[in-house]
Amino acid sequence: MCDDGLVRTIKTLPWRRVDDATKEACAALWEQVWPSADGPDLATRLARIEATSNATSELRWHLVFDHDELVAAARTFRHAVTFGSSEDGRDVRSQQIIALASVCTAPDRRGEGLGDSVAREALARASHDVPALFQSGVPEFYERLGARRITNEISTSLEGARSFHEPAAMIFAADAPWDDDAPIDLRIAGW
Ligand SMILES: CC(C)(COP(=O)(O)OP(=O)(O)OC[C@H]1O[C@@H](n2cnc3c(N)ncnc32)[C@H](O)[C@@H]1OP(=O)(O)O)[C@@H](O)C(=O)NCCC(=O)NCCS
Repeated sequence: MCDDGLVRTIKTLPWRRVDDATKEACAALWEQVWPSADGPDLATRLARIEATSNATSELRWHLVFDHDELVAAARTFRHAVTFGSSEDGRDVRSQQIIALASVCTAPDRRGEGLGDSVAREALARASHDVPALFQSGVPEFYERLGARRITNEISTSLEGARSFHEPAAMIFAADAPWDDDAPIDLRIAGW
């Protein structure tokens, strides 16, 4: 709760405990922020979220409500990427990470500290040995939270999948052990 008269609640929920109304509110928010290329069909979007989420391990949703209204959201899940490439003779090694995705604030509620709250809540899942890995078009927003840009070459070996495509790839925390020189295979589609 804040002292500005608003009642804000921050929740972190395992995907399987998110109720249908909240799933629909999230789908609507994500559709507003990242409109689907094929039109705003919420049922299709929700079905896509359900399918991806059911296949994702240890998925959690981070949600900020103002009274009952969903005003900011993010997702995290646990995943292992690989460093190095057997083709160039390097050792390939696995690195556990927390994947951070879908961070956003409702367009009419920006500038109120809600993005800050939801990003902090999501990044709290990262640790020294299991840092958060993500892409961003707003790296400065995350740098102020203690993340840093990384310079690795990043691709995915998942056939037909798209790798990271935003201007910056980042880790949190900035001082987590990380080899910026080794190429990274995301092993799944970029989140
Ligand atoms: C980026 C986003 C989540 C910020 O949400 P917000 O609720 O407006 O952010 P806040 O009000 O919590 O701002 C917190 C701080 O971040 C700064 N900030 C906000 N947006 C920023 C941006 N685009 N770039 C750099 N800094 C930013 C604010 O100035 C503020 O700094 P201060 O504490 O020094 O005043 C929101 O603009 C958004 O949803 N954008 C579209 C989706 C997106 O790009 N998400 C990130 C994907 S990686």
